[in-house]
Amino acid sequence: MHYILVTGGAGFIGANFVLNWLSDLGADSIVNVDKLTYAGNLKSLASLEGNERHVFSQTDICDREALDQILAKYKPRAIVHFAAESHVDRSIHGPGEFIQTNIVGTFTLLEAVRAYWGTLEAADRDAFRFLHVSTDEVFGSLAAEDPQFSETTAYAPNSPYSASKAASDHLVRAYHHTYGLPVLTTNCSNNYGPYHFPEKLIPLVITNALAGKPLPVYGDGLNVRDWLYVGDHCAAIREVLARGRVGETYNVGGWNEKTNLDVVNTVCDLLDALRPKPKGSYRDQITFVKDRPGHDRRYAIDARKLERELGWKPAETFESGLRKTIEWYLDSQGWVQNVMSGEYRKWVATQYAV
Ligand code: NAD
Ligand code: TYD
Repeated sequence: MHYILVTGGAGFIGANFVLNWLSDLGADSIVNVDKLTYAGNLKSLASLEGNERHVFSQTDICDREALDQILAKYKPRAIVHFAAESHVDRSIHGPGEFIQTNIVGTFTLLEAVRAYWGTLEAADRDAFRFLHVSTDEVFGSLAAEDPQFSETTAYAPNSPYSASKAASDHLVRAYHHTYGLPVLTTNCSNNYGPYHFPEKLIPLVITNALAGKPLPVYGDGLNVRDWLYVGDHCAAIREVLARGRVGETYNVGGWNEKTNLDVVNTVCDLLDALRPKPKGSYRDQITFVKDRPGHDRRYAIDARKLERELGWKPAETFESGLRKTIEWYLDSQGWVQNVMSGEYRKWVATQYAV
């Protein structure tokens, strides 16, 4: 069997990627390395039980010895690196884990991969790829009239999360320039879709709405994000992995700039249509709460390089992607109940305490 190695494949985007990749029967097998933090959930991969093309290893990317063993055993032809601490609000409460996983973990992985890559035959070394999944948040915050982020926008990260991702991007870049490691980096906008942990805006609003709880909107609700359906993101990663130019970075976005209030209103309206309340609208549950410290005002991605070079464009509009997402949550209440663990409840109590 031929393998690719995926890190963080039990998280939101990683799990969608693993499921999407393995649905192609001609694609390589996957060795999936995930520490299973609060954000990792093997229930998202339940449909792969018994599938020999998926090998799961509960491993921390900071564990060099374990990574060396996995690389030597499965001899992957590529790495797709998703593993990270990913929630901005958590990075404000406790940045330490973000430094550890996002910076030290990426460094440890790069070192292990560099050593492994050095043992490959010349042709395999040339064909090898290390794809690093990053975020548009490394570029900082835009004013309303600014052009969207392009691949040449200067880095200006504002939160401990985005600063740690920026550091990891720089390390990946340096491993290409210094050691020749064949790397690719993608910087994507806010994803949404199935298997999204309900600490992030869209799944939080869907699950709170259905539970009759307040829908917390930070500040004035006019911060803007550029929403990307996770299935479109997975397709973009596959294109970049297959045909991206080594050493390049690619911005991935959905061309869907929306204020948070627009997003929350649209979720409420779709729920009103799909699962009407006996009386009133889900919009009645919207509650303005105190703002996030250092809250970036606007993110927006110019994804034209990916379209020009690799022909990738998102297939979903915000409305079509959101409808699919809400339908998935309505049909997947078992998955939702499972993630609403004690740990999750503790987080909600800390973050939304008045
Ligand atoms: P997530 O938080 O849902 O999942 C992260 C996964 O990484 C989890 O399964 C977790 O168990 C695993 N993990 C954490 N620390 C680890 C460690 N030390 N070793 C091994 N595994 C570890 O995150 P996500 O939303 O799926 O994001 C995936 C990647 O995409 C991240 O690198 C994130 O920065 C990036 N990204 C996400 C978004 C988004 O909107 N979700 C947007 C831009 C970029
Ligand atoms: P989030 O999903 O945390 O992603 P990010 O901060 O990485 O963009 O938040 C998306 C936007 O929604 C962001 O502007 C913060 C806002 N937000 C709320 O208004 N209320 C909430 O409860 C959460 C979690 C986020």
